[in-house]
Amino acid sequence: MLDAGCGTGENALHVASLGFSVLGVDVAESALAIARAKAADRGIEVEFAAADAFQLERLGRRFETVLDCGLFHTFDGDERPRYVASLGSVTEHDGTLYVLCFSDDGLDTGPHPISQEELKAAFNANTGWNVAAIEPDRVQTRYQDDGAPAWFATIKRI
Ligand SMILES: C[S@@+](CC[C@H](N)C(=O)[O-])C[C@H]1O[C@@H](n2cnc3c(N)ncnc32)[C@H](O)[C@@H]1O
Repeated sequence: MLDAGCGTGENALHVASLGFSVLGVDVAESALAIARAKAADRGIEVEFAAADAFQLERLGRRFETVLDCGLFHTFDGDERPRYVASLGSVTEHDGTLYVLCFSDDGLDTGPHPISQEELKAAFNANTGWNVAAIEPDRVQTRYQDDGAPAWFATIKRI
């Protein structure tokens, strides 16, 4: 699995602890250092590398599963096509991308609310994807005890 924008690695570490092969990438070296220290402390085998989510093809690898937890919603409408193409370059055909992003649903939305329509506009047959499901969820934030409203999207690579 590829964890794009892995931060300090909690999701990558969790999936790796279940026995899966995981690469977490982020632009923030400071976050990667924390992620590597956690992996060493917990005795979990997982790879962390510095990479720009807009240039994932530079990894020279492909993945059956890609996770984006909290990254997609940081990009604006102009940046999304480049990011979506970058994700496509590393996702196997018929592979699965999971996106957890702030949603525009409800009153207590996070700082970057995303609509279902925006997800479908970014990921569709023209860009090489098929949105299989979008479910309401919550995403942890520093500001809300029970997190903020989120969409959990399951997106298949065509
Ligand atoms: C909100 S944090 C989410 C971290 C982690 N996925 C989680 O769920 O805790 C977003 C992360 O994306 C990273 N990021 C932002 N822009 C990036 C880019 N262009 N390429 C790779 N990582 C990026 C940030 O450094 C940050 O660690």
